[in-house]
Amino acid sequence: MGYPVSDLVGRVEAPPIAEAMSWVRQGPRNRDLINLCQAVPSYPPAPELQQEFGRIALQPGTGGYTDIYGLALLRESYANHLGADYGAKVAPNHVAITTGCNQAFAAAVMAVAKAGDDVVIPVPYYFNHQMWLTMLGIGLNTIPAFAEGRSHPSVQDAEKAIGPRTKALILCTPNNPTGAVYPPEVIEAFFDLAKARGITLILDETYKDFRPDPAPAHGLFQRSDWNDTLIHLYSFSKVYALAGYRLGAMTAGPSILSEAAKILDCMTICPPQITQQGVIFALRELDQWKRGKLDMMAGRLAAIRTAFARKGLDYKLISSGAYFAYVRHPFRGEASKAVAMRLAQEHDVLCLPGSMFGPAQEDYLRIAFANVDAAIMEPLVDRLIATQP
Ligand SMILES: Cc1ncc(COP(=O)(O)O)c(C=O)c1O
Repeated sequence: MGYPVSDLVGRVEAPPIAEAMSWVRQGPRNRDLINLCQAVPSYPPAPELQQEFGRIALQPGTGGYTDIYGLALLRESYANHLGADYGAKVAPNHVAITTGCNQAFAAAVMAVAKAGDDVVIPVPYYFNHQMWLTMLGIGLNTIPAFAEGRSHPSVQDAEKAIGPRTKALILCTPNNPTGAVYPPEVIEAFFDLAKARGITLILDETYKDFRPDPAPAHGLFQRSDWNDTLIHLYSFSKVYALAGYRLGAMTAGPSILSEAAKILDCMTICPPQITQQGVIFALRELDQWKRGKLDMMAGRLAAIRTAFARKGLDYKLISSGAYFAYVRHPFRGEASKAVAMRLAQEHDVLCLPGSMFGPAQEDYLRIAFANVDAAIMEPLVDRLIATQP
């Protein structure tokens, strides 16, 4: 017999990162694995933040719950951070702190759509977005995330993909998996489309700090009417190297935040207090530390672009930017998973196959280059060349 399983959950693929990790050869090896699989900072949190966590842990109240939306001081600090980043004024009551950005996405989607509804989403997509939507019974109206000559989705495609049950447009910029940073006018055109059609724009900007250009990513927060259309999502995982500490944020109009609060309450009651306290400190004290890491990431991006320009390399960089590169492999007609498994098992390079990011992605691999030092990019290309037919 066995357990009955929900077919909504049953139809979702197994968690991709765990699967990819299982491809890695166990036992002795004569060279290190180049691990480009999961997007995780390759360095620990700032030492002063680690020390601060130690101090916070010793406070008597740290073990308690906080407000569902998070600590008032953190909501205020993060609202100020967003305001400074986007040249706008963002009010603390527009902010909900969440237990990671994945939770923010889960709550955002659940607050605006239900089983039988659908959303417009560019492909390739971030796999957890697809998994959650599918588990809720929400349909995915897919549009291409890039095409010849452009590394962002087209608003005309999105317009055509909106149907009678469409509740939201979903954008992720800088993009996972392509790394592409969408131009402000594209993001704003998606917003205008969502507004004109009375639906929501869910904008995942987990990697916003890793954009090479420090100018505001878009002008949406400067508009007086953003807060009945936009749900903005963010993660503290990457920027402060706190992935396992679990903290993110959702910024939206109060009318949708109060709906999301019901979901957040049931999921986790509140975000982890120790992390919230730590991030208050980080937002106040760590600008310089952050700048240093972002410069290092810019160096890694430059290094992978240089390495992939090498003559004789048949893997082509289709897109690269914040954290990720999306690469076309040279094995036309072969499943991307077979290619990725071979790279892991025979060439000690772990990356993710395009098939994990949606349909028609068999020609591609995702490289989370931000995980490794700039000096690894040339050895990476050596190993890729060694795989070529
Ligand atoms: C686009 C995107 N959104 C959300 C997340 C998850 O962030 P968090 O660790 O804050 O849940 C990730 C993590 O890789 C991501 O790539």
